[in-house]
Amino acid sequence: MFDSKEKNEKGTVVLIKPGGSIKIIQITDTHIIDDDAPLFSGFDTSVSLLQVIDNIRENESDADLILLTGDLIHEATKTSYHKLSEHLSTLSIPVFCLPGNHDDPEILNEIMTMNGYGLGKVIKAGQWLIILLDTCVKGEHRGELSNSELEFLETTLASHANTHCLIALHHHPVPINSPWMDAMSLTNTKELLSIIDKFDHVRALVWGHIHQEFELLRNNVRLLGTPSTCLQFKPESDVYAVDDKPPAYRKLELLEDGNIKTEVVYVLE
Ligand SMILES: [Fe+2]
Repeated sequence: MFDSKEKNEKGTVVLIKPGGSIKIIQITDTHIIDDDAPLFSGFDTSVSLLQVIDNIRENESDADLILLTGDLIHEATKTSYHKLSEHLSTLSIPVFCLPGNHDDPEILNEIMTMNGYGLGKVIKAGQWLIILLDTCVKGEHRGELSNSELEFLETTLASHANTHCLIALHHHPVPINSPWMDAMSLTNTKELLSIIDKFDHVRALVWGHIHQEFELLRNNVRLLGTPSTCLQFKPESDVYAVDDKPPAYRKLELLEDGNIKTEVVYVLE
């Protein structure tokens, strides 16, 4: 199991399970808000996250890990990360995080690690490798993979050629036909895809950021966008628009043969 004292450095492989299929719960864009800050478009993000957590505790207790794919908090303060940690503390499943455009990677790292949550860049689970990428650009909402992050991805994929790979990131690497949202996508997708195309063991990419469900198959790689645990955005909207869909999370079952069973679960009050 995950040891919170494990170093969270790039390239560190954290082993969470030696074999069998792997069940992951992806929760994303929790946007936790400080007690004294205004709500996110009038939405209480702690209430919705706690509903999602209750659902996971009741229905997904057999999960091997939880992946938080960015925008953990709305404004990057230490108290927001502590508040998120407290919300997560009722779960007895290892939690791993990567940053989004609302996060401050340094504060995230400091507080989430201090509270026992993992930031391991590479997770080994059964026949699978899960690679966590950082697409944050300081002060900007768009995403970009730095040269070192691209190099890290390529060397990690090359050194685990016989392992199925799932790549997690915050920003969407392909357009979702929503111009305002596509204006803050990953900007160097071409470089990312050219690395992925060199290998045949990448099975899927999962991300958050778009606050809506999305799926596409590209060269046998599944591209999966996941709705938020708070408010959702209207698909195919030209401008910012809130949808009426409830909070959600994604279940991923990674099978030993490389296939993936996945579904988005919407959590009703
Ligand atoms: Fe977000």
